[in-house]
Amino acid sequence: MSNLIVLGAQWGDEGKGKIVDLLSEKFDAVARYQGGHNAGHTVLIGEQKFVLKLIPSGVLRRGIQAVIGNGVVIDPAALLEEISALEALGVNVRSQLRISNRAHVIFPFHRTIEKISEGRVDRKIGTTSRGIGPSYEDKIARRGIRIADLVDVDFPRLYRALAEDKQLIADTFKISEKIDFEEILEQYTEFADQIRPMVCDTAHLLNSMIREGKSILFEGAQGTMLDIDFGTYPFVTSSSAAAGGACTGTGVAPTKIDGILGVSKAYITRVGEGPFPSEDLTELGEKIRREGNEYGSVTGRPRRCGWFDVPLLRYTAEVNGFDSLIITKLDVLDDLEEVPVCVAYEVDGKVMTQMPASTRRMEAIKPIFERVAGWKESTRVSGRWSDLPEKAKQYLKFLEEKTGVEIGSVSNGPGRDETLIVPGSRLEKLLG
Ligand code: GDP
Ligand code: IMO
Ligand code: MG
Repeated sequence: MSNLIVLGAQWGDEGKGKIVDLLSEKFDAVARYQGGHNAGHTVLIGEQKFVLKLIPSGVLRRGIQAVIGNGVVIDPAALLEEISALEALGVNVRSQLRISNRAHVIFPFHRTIEKISEGRVDRKIGTTSRGIGPSYEDKIARRGIRIADLVDVDFPRLYRALAEDKQLIADTFKISEKIDFEEILEQYTEFADQIRPMVCDTAHLLNSMIREGKSILFEGAQGTMLDIDFGTYPFVTSSSAAAGGACTGTGVAPTKIDGILGVSKAYITRVGEGPFPSEDLTELGEKIRREGNEYGSVTGRPRRCGWFDVPLLRYTAEVNGFDSLIITKLDVLDDLEEVPVCVAYEVDGKVMTQMPASTRRMEAIKPIFERVAGWKESTRVSGRWSDLPEKAKQYLKFLEEKTGVEIGSVSNGPGRDETLIVPGSRLEKLLG
C-alpha cells in the first residue's frame, strides 16, 4: 500500500473531508500538514454530520492513527473543544490522535492582531478570524511558541517574552481591546496539561510507521489557490497547502510519497476576498449556491460560486503533480441545460492559458467560456461508473482533455457510498 497526499485543487471546500474519510479506510494513519481551525471538513456518515477543523478527517475510522503535523498552527482551546465534541459523538480521539511537538501555538492576541489588520479596508483578505495568519507570522519571525515549549516547564519564560512583544504592538497601534496576558498564561498552562499526553515527535512516529510498511494518507487543509506561494497572493492563507507542504509539514521526505490526488468540484467556489475569474454573479451562480448548499462550514459565509476553471486546474495540477483528480459535487449540476467551463483567460487584450502572478493582471482576467451540453438527469446513481448518464461522462471527458489530468473518481453526493471509481484508472491502482 502506498503513501498518498490528498489536497484541494481550487480555493478550498472541494470536499476533501468526505474523500479523506472515505479513503482512510485503506490507510494506517492520516496526517494533517498545514492550516489550523480555519479549515472546515464535512463528513457525513449515515445521518450523522461531523465538521472537522483541526483534527484530520480520517480520525472517524476506529483504530487509525491521526496526526496533526508540525506545519499546523494549533489553538489549544479550539482543539480541546473539537476533541470534546467528537468524544460526545463516540469517537475515541485522545487515544488515536498525536500532535506534533513542533507545531506552533495560536494565542488569543493573534486574533486581536488579525482583527486590526482586517479592519484596514485596503488590506482586507476576508480571513476566518481565527488568528491563523498572525500565528504563522510569529513562526516565520522566529518568536513563536511551539507545542513542545507549551508543555515544557519553561513555558512561562518563553510566553512572557512573546507577551512583551505583543504588548509593544498593542501600545504602538493603540489597540483598545484589553489583553490580559497573565490570565492567558494561566489558561494555557491548563491546556498544556490536557494536551501533553498526545504530544510527540510525529515526524519520527510517521517515519517509523513507514519503515514498518504501514501507509499514510496526507490531508491538505486549504486548496492550492490559497497556498502562500502558489495562490492568489495576497488573498491566500498563510501556509503551504500545495503538495510540497505535506513533506515540510510532517517531516516525511518526498521520496516516501507514492502519489498525489487533487480534489476539485465540478464547478468552483471561493470564500473571502480576491480575484475569481470564472465567478458567476447572475441568478445561475445563486442557483449553484442553493443546490450545492455553498455556505462556509466554519464561518457560515455564503461561498462565491463560478464555473470549472481549466487554466487554474492546469496550474494547480502542475505545481502539485497530480496523478489523478477526484471530481466532487457533480450532482449539483444535474439540471442545467448547459454547463459553462472557463477554458482560457483574456488579459490586457491577449488570450492566455497560464496563471498570471501580478495582482493587477489576476484581477484583469476576462474568462473565455465554452458551453458543454448538460445531462438533465440525476447522477446520484449508486455504485457503478457505467451507470452515470452518458452526457455527464462527456462533461468529465471534456474536463479531462482540457486539463490533461486523469479523472479517477467522481463524487455524486455527500455520503460515504456516493463515490464512483473509474475502472482501470491510475487512482484505482494507487489505492491498490
Ligand atoms: P472541504 O473543506 O474540502 O472538506 O469541504 P467542505 O466540507 O467545506 O464542503 C464540501 C461540502 O459539500 C460538504 O457539505 C459536503 O458534505 C458536501 N459534499 C461533498 N461531496 C459532495 C458531492 O459529491 N455532492 C454533494 N451534493 N455534496 C457533497
Ligand atoms: P477548507 O479546509 C475556504 C480562506 C479565507 C480567506 C483566506 C485567508 O474548509 O477548504 P485565513 O483565516 O486562513 O487567514 O484566511 O483563506 N480560507 C478558506 N476558504 N475553505 C477553507 O478551508 C479556508 N481556509 C481559509 O476565507 O479568504
Ligand atoms: Mg471546508
